Amino acid sequence: MTEKRFKAKRIVLYNHKGGVGKTTLTANIAFELASMGKRVLLVDSDPQTNLTSYFFPDEYVDKLLDDSESRNGKTIWTALRSIVNADGDYRYVPPSEVPPSKEGHTKNIAIIPGDIRLIEYEEALNEYWGQCLQRKYKGYKGLTALSSYVNEAAKEFKADYVFYDTGPNVGALNRAILLDCDYFVIPLSYDAFSRRALKTLGNRLATWIVGWKEILNLAPENVYLLPGAPKYLGYVPQRFKVISGTVTSSTSSNAAKIQKALFSDVVSVLRRVNPKLASKKISGTKLGEVRDFGDLVQDAQGRGIPFYSVMDKSKELKNDAKKAFSQIASAIIRNTNKR
Ligand SMILES: Nc1ncnc2c1ncn2[C@@H]1O[C@H](COP(=O)(O)OP(=O)(O)O)[C@@H](O)[C@H]1O
Ligand SMILES: [Mg+2]
Repeated sequence: MTEKRFKAKRIVLYNHKGGVGKTTLTANIAFELASMGKRVLLVDSDPQTNLTSYFFPDEYVDKLLDDSESRNGKTIWTALRSIVNADGDYRYVPPSEVPPSKEGHTKNIAIIPGDIRLIEYEEALNEYWGQCLQRKYKGYKGLTALSSYVNEAAKEFKADYVFYDTGPNVGALNRAILLDCDYFVIPLSYDAFSRRALKTLGNRLATWIVGWKEILNLAPENVYLLPGAPKYLGYVPQRFKVISGTVTSSTSSNAAKIQKALFSDVVSVLRRVNPKLASKKISGTKLGEVRDFGDLVQDAQGRGIPFYSVMDKSKELKNDAKKAFSQIASAIIRNTNKR
């Protein structure tokens, strides 16, 4: 039976480069969208479980991981393990609703907690890919299991947006996630490492999309498939230094180089695969920017609150944070509505 894809928009902040703020941005964009009345389902699909740790205290995360194979398990592994063990379908595990906190507006957010054992699913994914090319049913089932599960969770939660959080690599799990997403956003730093990473990023995405097309062409009717066409929604520079209210000069010179590289290494590469994947105009794709907020960030982690709700910190800094995320969330709403 073919499942119907629920209308929630799937988005991933993706960069295979680590430490570019993927997890932190994802959590804070979710808070902002939630405060604007949107329902957000977060999927912690990074085996390092950092997003889960943003929302829940350590002891609770330990318990989630300890219990993930039990009847009351709640993690992404609880849902997917029977697929990996080849003894059935995924198990529907309701996402954990994030309880509203005094300091934050966390109503409207639910999370599928991450799990270190997700690496076992990732290991199996390469095999599923090969099986799809041989038109084996088991391959389609395995390759789309995460997408199917998230689809059901999004529908149950009545999500407007789904955000996947990913680990820093170009592995089979991230390939399956990107191919399930309607949009991707590139978080980056204004430095040479980030600029160079864009080449690999653009190439990988193009290779994945082209590879998936081959699977699509071979696939029999009536199997649930991934959409396989993640559109470039924009980029978010983050963690740059602001000194006395101005960005440093190395930041501004790198900013121009980054824009150029985004165009040549990502946008153009994707457009050669399919012009609908990225708009020619790069200038409007900066969704917003997030400066270095120092220890405001650490103070919010593990408590499930946005930066701007951290007590005892400079009001100016908190207002800046609120403004930055509200701009990004608004851009996401606007840009996902128009295309
Ligand atoms: N805007 C920011 N200001 C200051 N520190 C930040 C900011 N964003 C992220 N960090 C810190 O940088 C590190 C990497 O961020 P993280 O969100 O974990 O990146 P990723 O998920 O891409 O690996 C973390 O220790 C986080 O606390
Ligand atoms: Mg992360």
